[in-house]
Amino acid sequence: MTGSNNRTPLIAGNWKMNTTAEEGHALAVGILEGISARAVGFSTVGCDIGFYPPATSLGLIADLCSTFEGCRVLVGAQNMHAETSGAFTGEISSAMVLSCGADSVLLGHSERRHVFNETDSEIGAKMETAVDAGLTAVLCVGETIEERDAENTTEVVGNQLEAGLEKLTEAAQLEEVIIAYEPVWAIGTGRTATPAQAQEVHAFIREQLGSAFEKRGAKGAGHEKTRILYGGSVKPDNAAELLSQPDIDGALVGGASLDAESFLGICEGCG
Ligand code: PGA
Repeated sequence: MTGSNNRTPLIAGNWKMNTTAEEGHALAVGILEGISARAVGFSTVGCDIGFYPPATSLGLIADLCSTFEGCRVLVGAQNMHAETSGAFTGEISSAMVLSCGADSVLLGHSERRHVFNETDSEIGAKMETAVDAGLTAVLCVGETIEERDAENTTEVVGNQLEAGLEKLTEAAQLEEVIIAYEPVWAIGTGRTATPAQAQEVHAFIREQLGSAFEKRGAKGAGHEKTRILYGGSVKPDNAAELLSQPDIDGALVGGASLDAESFLGICEGCG
């Protein structure tokens, strides 16, 4: 179901550095079988799903999903380099992601920003490379607890958004972007933003996207089509309430995406 706003919800699993190829395959099979078994429910609920496995099993998972007809499945990398090739030991390029059969990439995840010290400008460069390559780029943004306590949430998120989208100078490029709002203090902590807190930031993000589209000369309301996912301790028991907010168009799920039943439980929250 695409609600009154025409945005199909997307429930995406970010597996992080978890699952061997064998484990990831079993997890994805469990989820796809669960969707097929719930086909009636899903055709009413209707959501897209996404898998972001470790790069080592990207091809395997993309192959598995390529013939699935139960719902639309995005498969993507958790990161990639801004350059298209070269002497960057340990990195992967947009072409490598595509050659696995994947169609998406997460960029600027809070662990990339805070554990690996990725900067806004690096993330902006990656966004450009990803979109130019034809990948659906998921730009992750979110404030730390200190920034929230200092009432700097909108400033921080606004700056991350601006820098992340800076190099996408055409409105058509912005259309290839999904935003994930993930407050850093809610990731892996069991502490979720309340639906009202999340909705407030999502509405702000949509407003910022409106200006971004306008600045690029967009005629239509492109920002009304952009999916904005919430992430941070999303579980089956809090998903429905978060997903019922008008500007929350899905979830980016870490811990709870590693168990087929809990991931499916979150998908059911789209109803
Ligand atoms: P979490 O992670 O669901 O385990 O909080 C979310 C994320 O990091 O994308």
